[in-house]
Amino acid sequence: MSICYDSSESLLTLETASSVYQMKIDAYGYLEHLYYGRPAGGTDMSYLQRRYDRGFSGSPYAAGEDRTFSLDTMPQEYTSFGVGDFRTHSIGVINSDGSRCAELHYVSHEIREGKYSIPGLPAVYDNGGEAKTLVITLRDAVTGLVVRLYYGVFHDLDVITRAAEIVNEGTEEVILEKASSLCLDIPFGTWDLICFTGRHCMERQPERRPLSHSVQVISSERGMSSHQQNPFVIVCDRQANEDHGDCYGMMLAYSGNFKAEAGLDQFGSARIVMGISDTYFQWHLAPGESFCTPETILAYGEGLTRISHIFHRLIRHNICRGEYKLAHRPVLLNSWEASYFDFDENRILAIAKEAEELGIELFVLDDGWFRRRRDDNAGLGDWTADMEKFPGGLPALVEKINRMGMKFGIWVEPEMVNEDSDLYRAHPDWALKAPGRSPMLGRNQLVLDLGREEVRDYLYDAMAKLFRENNIQYVKWDMNRSLSDVYSAVCTPSRQGEAGHRYVLGIYGLLERLTEEFPHILFEGCAGGGGRFDAGMLYYTPQIWCSDDTDAVERIAIQNGTSFGYPVSAMGSHVSAVPNHQTGRSTPLALRGMVAMSGAFGYELDPGKLTEEEKQEIRAQIREFHRDQDLILDGLYYRLTDMAEQLPYAAWQFVSKDRGSSLLNLAVLHVQANAPLIHVRLKGLDPQAVYRIEEDGSCITGAALMYGGYTMPILTGDYPVFRLHLVRVCEMPKEKVQPEEEA
Ligand code: DGJ
Repeated sequence: MSICYDSSESLLTLETASSVYQMKIDAYGYLEHLYYGRPAGGTDMSYLQRRYDRGFSGSPYAAGEDRTFSLDTMPQEYTSFGVGDFRTHSIGVINSDGSRCAELHYVSHEIREGKYSIPGLPAVYDNGGEAKTLVITLRDAVTGLVVRLYYGVFHDLDVITRAAEIVNEGTEEVILEKASSLCLDIPFGTWDLICFTGRHCMERQPERRPLSHSVQVISSERGMSSHQQNPFVIVCDRQANEDHGDCYGMMLAYSGNFKAEAGLDQFGSARIVMGISDTYFQWHLAPGESFCTPETILAYGEGLTRISHIFHRLIRHNICRGEYKLAHRPVLLNSWEASYFDFDENRILAIAKEAEELGIELFVLDDGWFRRRRDDNAGLGDWTADMEKFPGGLPALVEKINRMGMKFGIWVEPEMVNEDSDLYRAHPDWALKAPGRSPMLGRNQLVLDLGREEVRDYLYDAMAKLFRENNIQYVKWDMNRSLSDVYSAVCTPSRQGEAGHRYVLGIYGLLERLTEEFPHILFEGCAGGGGRFDAGMLYYTPQIWCSDDTDAVERIAIQNGTSFGYPVSAMGSHVSAVPNHQTGRSTPLALRGMVAMSGAFGYELDPGKLTEEEKQEIRAQIREFHRDQDLILDGLYYRLTDMAEQLPYAAWQFVSKDRGSSLLNLAVLHVQANAPLIHVRLKGLDPQAVYRIEEDGSCITGAALMYGGYTMPILTGDYPVFRLHLVRVCEMPKEKVQPEEEA
């Protein structure tokens, strides 16, 4: 039973394999949160709450003389608004009479088989028999505003999803000013908050700090989930590390403005509220209308690694869709860092020929292939080939590349428009811009108002034509600026607060149509690298270009941070030329290969500039990736070093799900003379098995490799790397198995 209702105690309990989530409808009809954490023996957790007169906090009118009851101190599932809970609220409303109140009382609940979906928004899906849904209805008696709380319970996956639907069942308009997806109160414990912060070219760096009485806000108001913050946070026990301690992962499946607020109340109870950002947001609900929030995905586990493993599996199996969700991805070569805007057909074919000789399977033509696109000043919006560069048009080019034995992929940036484009000249009002103002330019471009149907239709037609007329098997869907001047020419002044969310619904709608019509195309998301790396986009594109920084040393940090929430198969990662174009650093090809191979693997360089020796090495890398890709893309990923410790090396490991094989990757970031030998303890192996180390043929038990570890040889030179491939060869002889391991 993953969802259970105990009517005698008015208890609602959600169970997953390793967690319990409990709520109670209390004597005054409010929905209280009781507990989320390790299974607690089927106990009614309401005994944890001791109520006493909290004086200044006040009590709801209905509580009468009962001064021990206060909304301001009670752990709640989804807070009322303006009626006595002075902490971070879940919902904000302006009623037609101007009052800013909504008092939410329990009305009913319903348990359903399967997982709910959310119209127009990405959401975790059930592959069949994996999930149940709980819907709890709350209502404000005065206005008739109804809030339906949705819970998707994936028992075996250890995941609970949450979303809310707000319905105006009253007779007057209501303006929503905040509509969160999740409120989680954790009344006990000492907690840290981990968020993933960054900038263009250094995305998703973990930042850990104590939860405190000042509410910490993790948010994006850039119209995209952003390079600067990610809609994923972890709240963990102060003592928690990779392997131990209570950890709660919370991920919003949304690609626009978001906000996560986390802090302690006056009595030390933690509250985390997460959802669409309320900055710039407003949504008008006429009688009968409803608003659906995006979904938050919740996972509880012991240790940060466990949280990562839960999200990795969930994203691969229950968020990503389409033919490529679990399939091998072709090894690609992307033209961007090979030639930027400086190419014609001959140059592209020369690069492609060299690529094919290396064993590349997919050639990707990046930015610069369409009319008047000689630099980033012009062309966006006009999605037809530049006939000066490609006299035979794209079909002729694609055919030549296909004849070389490679698939063909292309770069597009449909959400944007240059002022110097036919599209903008014809439809200047299609761009987001506020009346009377010159809008901010980002990379010389404006943002199209994807909230408008005619804009989406134009883009659908342009993209579908491109994909239909050419044998395109991969699309890099880029987006190279934040949203500013978010004003839609088709929204009334009072409804401009809807434009940002309508944009996100628009991009999802467009991607839904295209991915449905072209299921054979592998879509890769991109936003100046990893500026829109989130579960919302992964619903449409199973991989996302992780960062515009292709320097292998920097990429170790970026991919390490990304791995806390997102699987390796989602991280587009390429070997680029040296000196690196972003940092000027030179690193060996072995390091670049090892790092790029810890992701959706490819190259982004001009192979014509490689030496014969480098070409041989690349051929070997591609063979190696083919051999190891199941282990890498579908195995369990372990972070063996903590980047925060700034060690002179970094190590990470893949272990196949049956623990039959493993790959240890280690990169020395700072070589030192006469330094202590590097030693790491491996993880996730079968302690009772013997593993053969492919590199030297030696055999060591899983127990020894995990508890004793492995000492590296002396590693010298420029950024040396060390790899160990382990294969389970047999079980440990019975007499050598330690009794506790047998148990
Ligand atoms: C930004 C992307 O992240 C790059 O990889 C490249 O595609 C450029 N845009 C092209 O304009």
